[in-house]
Amino acid sequence: MPVPESPSIVIKGGRVIDATGERTADVVVVDGRITAVGADLSADRTLDASGCIVAPGLVDIHTHLREPGKEEAETVETGARGAALGGYTAILAMPNTTPAMDSAAVVQQVLDLGRTAPCDVYASGAITVGRAGEQLAPMAEMAALGVRLFTDDGAGVQSNAMMRRAMEYATGLGVTLAQHCEDDALCGGGHMHEGEWSARLGIPGQPAEAEELMVMRDIALARLTGCRVHFQHMSTTRSVAMIREAIAAGLPVTAEATTHHFTLTHAECASYDPLYKVNPPLRTADDVAAVKAGLADGTIGIIATDHAPHAAETKELPFDQAPPGMLGLETALALALTELDLPVQQVLAALSWNPARVIGVGDTHGLPVAEGNPANLCVIDPEAAWTVDGAAMASRSTNTPYQGRELKGRVRHTLLAGEPVVVGGEAQR
Ligand code: DOR
Repeated sequence: MPVPESPSIVIKGGRVIDATGERTADVVVVDGRITAVGADLSADRTLDASGCIVAPGLVDIHTHLREPGKEEAETVETGARGAALGGYTAILAMPNTTPAMDSAAVVQQVLDLGRTAPCDVYASGAITVGRAGEQLAPMAEMAALGVRLFTDDGAGVQSNAMMRRAMEYATGLGVTLAQHCEDDALCGGGHMHEGEWSARLGIPGQPAEAEELMVMRDIALARLTGCRVHFQHMSTTRSVAMIREAIAAGLPVTAEATTHHFTLTHAECASYDPLYKVNPPLRTADDVAAVKAGLADGTIGIIATDHAPHAAETKELPFDQAPPGMLGLETALALALTELDLPVQQVLAALSWNPARVIGVGDTHGLPVAEGNPANLCVIDPEAAWTVDGAAMASRSTNTPYQGRELKGRVRHTLLAGEPVVVGGEAQR
């Protein structure tokens, strides 16, 4: 017996933008796939896209979901719902859960939790056991479950020799290593960027060099081993310059910037509000300009959220005791559209198809909006103005540093494998 088709959907009246260019077209979706792209198309159900951009779903290379271990701050389900509302159809869960995602068992647990989520949840794996930097984690058994990117995120791998071993091992497995670049010894006891504001506020700082020394080392080790290395949340002028040089030299390196590192500076910490505490810390206006320049010339090809939910009671502690991190999934697209003076296609590349390739999901996400491709899509109203409100977000936490900020650009619909999981800005599940 033939399997009955699900009702067809037409996304009508939008401007399609993907890696191949831009055109005005309706998009028909049936049974999880795009079946037609063209003029005057119809279907059983219509999703209005007038005035909107129709794009491949966004892909976040850097999401903290807190499950297992800190479900009071976020779960896989609530994080994924926020992601869908933010236009994401795929997110990569960071391994700093409790226990850490340093074994096949914990990776499998996160993948299982993600199966019913409103966006595809992929897992990264830890480079070292317990992210403690002392012993290599069983990367092969995690790679066998589909893990394509390994990181000790939340911490950098401190030992040069350990990082070299990890790169040699990763090269053999054909996976990417991602680094949270921070030298612990230089950062020790610091809670914000070391500079003019830390001196004025009397808060111990973390120097830019703590990031830059590890960027320098990992570029050297990528040259030595041939390993693909991805640099997470790049935040300083000299980090961006070193990556620019490494790419020009033909090394297999990629880099991301978070939305907060191109929209906020260390001056925000003058409020002593831990909402502005993050690792790496918010830097100077010159650093923000360098990160933006890196995004503009393609040195930094990826915009990441580093979505880091924290329960309210922890973010209400004094600055030096509060944990670092801020929400990102529901604000990233609007911040990128509002704050970056770049063509929309370049912003979407950094939010969708570039990260899709780096995390190894480019066969299902970030693909051109074309017949036959999986219908992982988002529909964005670039003119929609809205006010950020942490309490209105899907996240279990509310720690957004953008509370009350007016932004432009909002997701109208998100389709995951053809299913409308967000319609008219409302989550459907
Ligand atoms: O600010 C941060 N928060 N930076 C990290 O690297 C980790 C993250 C978290 O897990 O909260």
